[in-house]
Amino acid sequence: LSTEHEPLPPARPGPDMSPDEFRRYGHQVVDWIAEFLAHPERHRVLPAVRPGEVSAALPASPPAEGEAMDGILRDFEDVIVPGLTQWNHPGFLAYFANTASGPGILGEMLTAAVNNNAMLWRTGPSATELEDRALDWMRQMMGLPDAFRGTIQDTASISTLVAVCAAREATGLQIRDEGLGGRGLPRLRMYCSEEAHSSVERAGIVAGIGRAGTRTIPTDAEFRMDPAALERAIAEDAAAGWKPFCVVATVGTTSTTSIDPVPAIADVCERHGLWLHVDAAYGGAAAVVPEMRGVLEGCERADTLVVNPHKWLFVPMDLSALYARDPQAIRRAFSLVPAYLHTAEGASVTNLMDYGPALGKRFRALKLWMTLRYFGARGFASRIREHLRLARDFAAWIDADPAWERMAPVPFSLVLYRHRPAGVASEAALDAHNERLMDAVNATGEVFVSHTRVRGRFALRLAIGNLRTDEATIRRAWQILREAAAGLG
Ligand SMILES: Cc1ncc(COP(=O)(O)O)c(C=O)c1O
Repeated sequence: LSTEHEPLPPARPGPDMSPDEFRRYGHQVVDWIAEFLAHPERHRVLPAVRPGEVSAALPASPPAEGEAMDGILRDFEDVIVPGLTQWNHPGFLAYFANTASGPGILGEMLTAAVNNNAMLWRTGPSATELEDRALDWMRQMMGLPDAFRGTIQDTASISTLVAVCAAREATGLQIRDEGLGGRGLPRLRMYCSEEAHSSVERAGIVAGIGRAGTRTIPTDAEFRMDPAALERAIAEDAAAGWKPFCVVATVGTTSTTSIDPVPAIADVCERHGLWLHVDAAYGGAAAVVPEMRGVLEGCERADTLVVNPHKWLFVPMDLSALYARDPQAIRRAFSLVPAYLHTAEGASVTNLMDYGPALGKRFRALKLWMTLRYFGARGFASRIREHLRLARDFAAWIDADPAWERMAPVPFSLVLYRHRPAGVASEAALDAHNERLMDAVNATGEVFVSHTRVRGRFALRLAIGNLRTDEATIRRAWQILREAAAGLG
């Protein structure tokens, strides 16, 4: 954020930054972003800061008087940037890698500028109507049924919470109005596989189902929910006095990206009258690739389904899309309209505050719309297809090298693997060895890989999801991994 001008004085005559000052620093910030995106190699992907270091560099007290932007932006570079984990770096191969794309970043800037709070249609007509349209485009791109209508939530965790609350209301037990206690209600139970994301159990905590109310179902050799075991669990619970109400299936589980057998799970839900929520937070994006459509097979029968454009559709954090076959079911779970929020438009419009726990509603649809338009359906498909290819290539290198072992199938763009040097026989020693290997790789600052446990065993993850990650990045990551393994002896 170098300055080529005389700093403007901090004392400002107007109530806010003047248009001139805004223009000057705005250009500077945009230039900085362009350089930042163009030269990721200038930054470590995992920062070399110790806990407390950033905090120690920040004054303990707020400034009494306003400060000049030059100093603020300088501190951004000197204090904040060194403590950034570079999620937008091509070498970010950890967790589920993602991208804040150029059009998405520009969308975020405009969202902040117009600052619409679309809690009501009246407080954000464009935001409300664009949300509906952009999510409908996305629905079409993924081949989901016409009946599905979407709303934007901040994260998949909240999307799943909203779905579980809708499912809870659909039981007819009037829990939103009467609460859970003191009425002799049966205890509610929902089901997900043992590989499901922790956000499912957390939704149960928040919705009053309790951790005991979420029963995990065993998976097969490829980490997919066993529908026969699901059906047995439902029968067993019903006989024991529980009220089964919801099943959460996952398309692209967090640890291994396994795909639950949604058609068979939908059959079970139909037979028992249970709500079917699909967590396709990561994997759903792959359905924009025509030959990958099959990953959402059966999802047309879901009551609700979540996909995160902030994971693999190149939209900056945060944006989660929650689709519902009957959006009114969500409205019935959440709508609460105090006198001061009644408007003359009445039921003729959508008021987004009715579709989740929050009143305030950020104008997230803008960055989604701009990103969808910029890349187009074919542009998304070709980019995601390339990520899938890179993952297959990396998996093939692992498979071809006897010192390495793949730990799970590769249905998407995540590869699970470990180093298996000759002479290390015990599983505990292999776990410790691979943890040390991960630390050595991450210490390079060039790439960032993370880990999980697969059937209890430590496994490294290589997740491809950043637009700037290319074949050279993956080849370099493979080289770093092998060098680090050799270095450990
Ligand atoms: C399958 C799955 N579901 C849900 C989540 C939670 O996503 P969010 O961070 O948007 O809440 C994740 C996060 O990685 C995930 O992998």
